Amino acid sequence: MSYASEYERSLADPEGFWREQARALPWIEFPTTILDQDANGAWRWFDGGKTNTCWLALDRHVESGRGEQIALIYDSPVTDQIQKFSYQALTDTVAYAAGALAALGVEKGDRVIIYMPMIPEAVIAMLACARIGAIHSVVFGGFAPPELATRIDDATPKVILCASCGIEFSNIIPYKPLVDEAIDLALHKPANTVVVQRAELEADLDREGDLDWADWAGAAERADCVVVDATDPLYILYTSGTTGKPKGVVRDNGGHAVALNYSMEAVYGVDAGDVYWAASDVGWVVGHSYIVYGPLIRGCTSILFEGKPVRTPDAGVFWRVIQDHKVKCFFVAPTAYRAVKKEDPDCALKARYDVSSLEYQFVAGERLDPPTYHWLQDNLGIPVIDHWWQTETGWPMCANMAGIELMETKPGSPTLPVPGYDLRILDENGHELGANEEGAVVIKAPLPPGALPTVWGDHDRYLAAYWSEFEGFYLTGDGGYRDEDGYVYIMGRIDDVINVAGHRLSTGQFEEVVANHPAVAECTVVGIHDADKGQVPFGLVLLKDGVNVAPDQLEKDLVQMVRQGVGAFANFKRAIVVDRLPKTRSGKILRALLRKMIDGEPYTTPSTIDDPAIVPEIDERLRERGVL
Ligand code: COA
Ligand code: AMP
Repeated sequence: MSYASEYERSLADPEGFWREQARALPWIEFPTTILDQDANGAWRWFDGGKTNTCWLALDRHVESGRGEQIALIYDSPVTDQIQKFSYQALTDTVAYAAGALAALGVEKGDRVIIYMPMIPEAVIAMLACARIGAIHSVVFGGFAPPELATRIDDATPKVILCASCGIEFSNIIPYKPLVDEAIDLALHKPANTVVVQRAELEADLDREGDLDWADWAGAAERADCVVVDATDPLYILYTSGTTGKPKGVVRDNGGHAVALNYSMEAVYGVDAGDVYWAASDVGWVVGHSYIVYGPLIRGCTSILFEGKPVRTPDAGVFWRVIQDHKVKCFFVAPTAYRAVKKEDPDCALKARYDVSSLEYQFVAGERLDPPTYHWLQDNLGIPVIDHWWQTETGWPMCANMAGIELMETKPGSPTLPVPGYDLRILDENGHELGANEEGAVVIKAPLPPGALPTVWGDHDRYLAAYWSEFEGFYLTGDGGYRDEDGYVYIMGRIDDVINVAGHRLSTGQFEEVVANHPAVAECTVVGIHDADKGQVPFGLVLLKDGVNVAPDQLEKDLVQMVRQGVGAFANFKRAIVVDRLPKTRSGKILRALLRKMIDGEPYTTPSTIDDPAIVPEIDERLRERGVL
């Protein structure tokens, strides 16, 4: 099969193409319609289909004789544990957790928030929700209480499932006090908090509704899979948009399962029985799609890794895991390999391990910078595949398709659009651009199965954020171009989203926190270049009249506030005081100019600037504070 024919077929006959992919999975009832539009005008896949995602990921493999195969390997260098769950064992454990949720009154359509580190209970919790048709919303464990509180108020969960602590290298991070603080901050109060008590630090279960996971799941009866519609929501995953308020990306059951099942084979080149490892976190979309649902729906063995690329215990840990579990396909963010490369520049540790099982190295989450690409290519000697996607789509939009036809790779490019994605590059007036011309990267409607049909509780925001800029085209928020061979190059966000070590954040999230400092009158936060993390946030603040505060102290205060307001993983480390901010005559802050100035890149003062004298003023402040 050639890539070109598969791609063309997917666009020429989307219904035929996806009907065939839908037939690759069993259904409780096969869809009556493949593609249509709902009452809101949103495109929906597989209407009339009846399914259950937990059944697709677990029970049906047991029913077809794969019960003894390992479904999940928990490999935790931070606790020195390896635990393996067969499909049968994981099905049983999930069935009891689902029964325990049901005993708390959680029913189909109810929301459950999961705030956990990388432990098996996180996966069990997600699948248990799916089993009874409850909608989970996993919140990344690095988020601080105010961010968790925002998500509690938006998702209004009946129950929160969490752990007593997380482990970052050798630091124990108590989670339960963070959950308690978030519940105190939130207007909505979940009825119960169920806590996995970890041996490293047990939590006090002293609030009304607190439960110990072991007792709670231990006392439960098994719950069966509840039949859901293909179009019913499976989960909500919050992601950063252009404002401080995150968007609740909704994922349905049927389209998601079909798309992920297809992608495991077509994009990643793996099938049932293969060992697949995505070293991300369950709190991000990579964790949802390619630690939990994708590999399990396909019948693979998935790895849940509670460790870091380095110092757990060293920069050879990736090779150790690949060797120990015979990983065939490995997926990680480039930032993780930059960390490995920094500690082991010649990749010498790899020689200590047998990594001959590894056939493909995939990377995503941020641009794969050419030096990292070449380092990987030179040291691995297998296909190194950059692929591009986002929380909203749930699976790759551009890739070199290992399961269809591997194309020539071009450093800096995630290769070609994946079947189902009609990718175009548009100028600001909505006209299609030619080869090598940079513009907005958009996808012509309809998006393929798996992509978001709405934003939780706010369909108008969905339309405004994704569909209003260019009629009939989904706005990805990324800028880029295609070369003369059609290869896609993603050059970075064209909105206020920044990407810190593969973690997506919005400048608005930071600005809301920084603006709360009593001395700050106005502020802006921009994403600047960082050699290790790709981007990091940088603050510029104006002080209130008459306020006198030492710049060092102010910077320290702001760093602390962002750690407590957003999370330490956001890497907010610098903020400087300026007298004025560069703005257009209509009052818009010239962020691109600021970014270039701070990065020390060449820039020209835009003609739209209100007062050009601000530029040398800012340059002086940057030099005074040692930024330049
Ligand atoms: N829970 C709590 N805190 C967390 C956290 C989590 N899940 N993740 C990160 N943090 C904290 C860290 O402990 C650190 O705190 P500190 O400032 O008190 O030391 C801070 O956030 C910054 O963390 P990080 O940016 O991760 O830097 P690091 O030096 O701790 O680790 C790497 C460097 C390269 C090991 C790490 O950035 C990494 O693993 N990156 C890959 C991330 C990834 O996979 N992204 C893709 C998602 S799809
Ligand atoms: P997230 O929703 O957290 O997965 O982040 C998605 C964003 O990360 C995209 O919109 C891009 O800006 C960026 N991104 C992800 N993968 C890549 C990639 N392979 N190349 C360039 N940017 C990427």
